[in-house]
Amino acid sequence: MVAIDKLPDRGAPVVVVDDLHVKYRVYATGRAAKDRSGLLAKTRGIREVHALKGVSFVAYENESIGVIGSNGSGKSTLMRALTGLTPPASGAVYARSRPNLLGVGAALLPNLSGARNIILGGLALGYTRSEVKELEPGIVDFAELGESIDLPMRTYSSGMQARLKFSIAAARQHDILIIDEALAVGDRRFRKRSEARIREIAETAGTIFLVSHSMGSIRDTCQRTIWLNKGTLMMDGPTDEVIEAYEATRK
Ligand SMILES: Nc1ncnc2c1ncn2[C@@H]1O[C@H](COP(=O)(O)OP(=O)(O)OP(=O)(O)O)[C@@H](O)[C@H]1O
Ligand SMILES: [Mg+2]
Repeated sequence: MVAIDKLPDRGAPVVVVDDLHVKYRVYATGRAAKDRSGLLAKTRGIREVHALKGVSFVAYENESIGVIGSNGSGKSTLMRALTGLTPPASGAVYARSRPNLLGVGAALLPNLSGARNIILGGLALGYTRSEVKELEPGIVDFAELGESIDLPMRTYSSGMQARLKFSIAAARQHDILIIDEALAVGDRRFRKRSEARIREIAETAGTIFLVSHSMGSIRDTCQRTIWLNKGTLMMDGPTDEVIEAYEATRK
């Protein structure tokens, strides 16, 4: 591990990930184990997926860190481990405060209007009732849903739902905010405004992790990028260098 007090010109360490391993245990039905003869091998049972294999890094105040890597490389697993939702098999995550995962999705109710869901989502993210009241007009403005804000959320397109979720989550300053692909479904205009808001949160003492397959979003938002490949940390450094190396492996 790096001695974190010895690194120059950086804010306070906010998240320390130390040799993190995460394993999932899954029940295999045996279908994947079909052998060459075409017969189903009888391998029903528990299979283990070693999703993170010894990941270590330190995140500092004011950083927005891009997280890239191909499908299944462990990005979402790492983000869930940061929030404490996924327990480590070994190693540890130390965080200054509990990271908020942008994904109030689970808390929102499709039959309620956008406006009602703002209150619900805000409370789910730990805002106080008075904070929600105070932030509500700003959230409505940012989401730019027009009159749809009073319609049930089930009538929204996926982009409209994403707008609402992002607007709720980004309304307040966060110490540590994790955004896992939430920008992907918004249109270009909304994406640009979201990226600007992310930079703003990071500038005012927050730390942000942005998981995305859009190298444009990562470039515009993050100075530093982490590249995961098959559960290991391939590279951690300035965004341009990391993206260049990542893209070189994908040609
Ligand atoms: N709940 C789960 N149960 C079992 N295995 C899982 C679970 N979630 C993820 N995995 C496995 O862990 C590995 C990493 O998955 P993860 O979702 O972290 O990848 P990712 O980098 O976020 O991919 P994507 O770009 O597709 O979002 C994959 O092999 C995946 O199959
Ligand atoms: Mg993912």
